[in-house]
Amino acid sequence: MSFMRKIFITGGAGFIGSAFVRLLLAELPDCELTNFDALTYAGNPDNLEELHNERHHFIQGDIADSREVLGALEEGTDVLVNFAAESHVDRSIASAKEFIRTNVLGTQVLLDCARQRGVRRFIQISTDEVMGSLPEDSTAYFVEDSPFAPNSPYAASKAAAEHLVRAAHHTFGLDTVITRCGNNYGPRQFPEKFLPLALSNAMNDQPIPVYGDGRNVRDWIYVDDHCRAILLAMENGRSGGTYNIGARNEQQNIDVVHSLLDTLGKPRSLLSFVQDRPGHDRRYAMDPTLIETELNWRPRETWESGLQKTIHWYQENGRWLERTRSGAYQDYYRQQYGAEIQAT
Ligand SMILES: NC(=O)c1ccc[n+]([C@@H]2O[C@H](COP(=O)([O-])OP(=O)(O)OC[C@H]3O[C@@H](n4cnc5c(N)ncnc54)[C@H](O)[C@@H]3O)[C@@H](O)[C@H]2O)c1
Repeated sequence: MSFMRKIFITGGAGFIGSAFVRLLLAELPDCELTNFDALTYAGNPDNLEELHNERHHFIQGDIADSREVLGALEEGTDVLVNFAAESHVDRSIASAKEFIRTNVLGTQVLLDCARQRGVRRFIQISTDEVMGSLPEDSTAYFVEDSPFAPNSPYAASKAAAEHLVRAAHHTFGLDTVITRCGNNYGPRQFPEKFLPLALSNAMNDQPIPVYGDGRNVRDWIYVDDHCRAILLAMENGRSGGTYNIGARNEQQNIDVVHSLLDTLGKPRSLLSFVQDRPGHDRRYAMDPTLIETELNWRPRETWESGLQKTIHWYQENGRWLERTRSGAYQDYYRQQYGAEIQAT
């Protein structure tokens, strides 16, 4: 039986948060979850379909509003897991304001409210992007104490959030754990992100926009493997500790697109290079040795098995995709990639 029974999750209607909710309901039969999410454009009630479970309580609210957080966060909460964030780098380049509000101010509000309510443990979900870009063709990897060097407003806001979590641990003795992960892929990822955008365009025989020369390297992990690592860190991670999570799976962007097209039996001519993202980081690569040795975590999926599962889910869930790709998504897409690369 887990000693984490009463769990407060923020951002649980998003891609990774909703996968984590599913995992907890399946793995911790005695847990009770509050899922606190503002339902921004990225928060999707469809992600919570089938989760009509008496142990899962959804509350719509904003992590930057302490009144709303205190109204939802009960005394006796064992752990708060903070997934809520503005999470798309391109949007942070267009305007950073919401990123500072949610990712920085929101994290501080949660830390303050957690102390006020006597929450026993605080888990901050962070990203490899706080450590900047690694050289190409090198054997350098991000380790837990690699220096911070965020290059986008998104990464800078996530780095600031990590600093605030560290300060709450150091100054007030709050029991905190930070997890950092590379690029996730899997079911229910909003199709503004690279892999589901490429996949949904390929499924619709639409051109797939790829930034620059397409040789940027990302370290890909299947979302459920990431969530299992967070669960281990939540239950057994060192207080004040940070854990890098990665599946040792570096892929260049063009190879990701080729894998998708080949698996779907679509022509590689769908790949379409577009102007590079300003300040585009070249390479991210995690060294997950610490979480492997200290918490005995290993990913279960290979790149091939994870991609198969992901493609299968998108093929089987046309309604989800159709709904997320309608309305405001179309406006965003036109603004980002221009009219020549249409999304349907
Ligand atoms: N996606 C990745 O590859 C990746 C990799 C490493 C780390 N992360 C981190 O993991 C977390 C989850 O990422 P994701 O990809 O699931 O993001 P997402 O954009 O799919 O979901 C974010 C969720 O947060 C909610 N939210 C946004 N602002 C809020 C606010 N002010 N108050 C309450 N809820 C709010 C949204 O409604 C949404 O449900 C983020 O903190 C992100 O930085 C993501």
